[in-house]
Amino acid sequence: MNKTAKNKLLFGHALIPFPLKIQNMKTLKVELKDRSYPIYIGEGNLSKLPELVKLFYPVKRFVLISDKNVFGHYGDVVTSSFQAAGLHVETVLVPPGEKSKSIDRYAYVLTQMLKTGVSRDWIVLALGGGVVGDLAGFVASSYMRGIPFIQIPTSLLAQVDSSVGGKTGINHPLAKNVIGAFYQPKIVWIDIAVLRTMESVEIVSGLAEVIKYGIIYSRDFFHFCEDNIKSLLSLKSQVCTEAISKCCDIKAKIVAQDEKETGIRAILNFGHTVGHAIEAVMNYQSIRHGEAVFWGMLAEAHMALKMGLLNEKEFDRIVALFHKIPLKTGINGVVFDDLMRAMRHDKKAKDNKLRFALPKSLGETVIEGVEDETLIFNAFNFARENGWKQH
Ligand code: GLY
Repeated sequence: MNKTAKNKLLFGHALIPFPLKIQNMKTLKVELKDRSYPIYIGEGNLSKLPELVKLFYPVKRFVLISDKNVFGHYGDVVTSSFQAAGLHVETVLVPPGEKSKSIDRYAYVLTQMLKTGVSRDWIVLALGGGVVGDLAGFVASSYMRGIPFIQIPTSLLAQVDSSVGGKTGINHPLAKNVIGAFYQPKIVWIDIAVLRTMESVEIVSGLAEVIKYGIIYSRDFFHFCEDNIKSLLSLKSQVCTEAISKCCDIKAKIVAQDEKETGIRAILNFGHTVGHAIEAVMNYQSIRHGEAVFWGMLAEAHMALKMGLLNEKEFDRIVALFHKIPLKTGINGVVFDDLMRAMRHDKKAKDNKLRFALPKSLGETVIEGVEDETLIFNAFNFARENGWKQH
């Protein structure tokens, strides 16, 4: 690709700058050669997506995949904006919640699309949180060997993490996220105004991933989270836009270096080895993903401390910040043996060794294989006994 073409897309006879800057919106780019795509972050921009889509894609038909709750809030805004732009939208809805990332629900969505006559010249719109994004992305990756999709994330967690980077997939009854594909969206379109209809437990859950970026990649951003935790919890516009942009920027940089997680991308799993196992033991029902990641980060930070990676002062800062988060869901019912069993299904496990992304200091992360079960047991107990703070 020559230099001019690298930052422009040929559309019709016009070369359009890529990514196109849009007034009042932050624009970032995930650099993946010919699969590069923009991330747009704004407030009150939900209905403006068709204007951008029409510039880049000569497509007239869209299938919007969403869950019933999100669609109840934002379905009309999105569908009517597409219709007003002369574009056709069909809708497929799934029930809210992790259970929709199932083989049955995946088959249901494909069936609806086949019945509607969706063909390769359609685009999938994923309107929802992490569950919808993962499911719709996987549907898009496999329907007729792949059709384009656009992420319109509506939860904090999806806006800062799951909508960026192309991890799509569903769960198997035996393990989470084990059926899937790396499949990049064409656009990530973020409207922070939609966060205002989120339940507070969802905000807390998303904040886990926000703080994670500080711990694994940027000491300055961790500091920003410490300074602004109250504004983040109350979704103050400016602070939220800054935090979401920073998280997307970090994620874009990591994904650009290692799309398929053969190296640095694994650092994004800090808190997730224990966190995913907690979710599995709690049957994905009574705890949100981000809440489980909070508990997981606490346990894994304790492991890092005891392994001599993280110093006491930085460990205490992490615990102190976590104590400011009004967590609602505890892990008292989780039995350690069940947790270990669930962890052994982890995709990162190698040669029977569990692998963890562990902070070496604030902003720096290493991947370590761990065999010492007592270390994990003590860390889990630490989290259980010290993570909870009355609010
Ligand atoms: N959520 C972790 C990743 O996208 O790699």
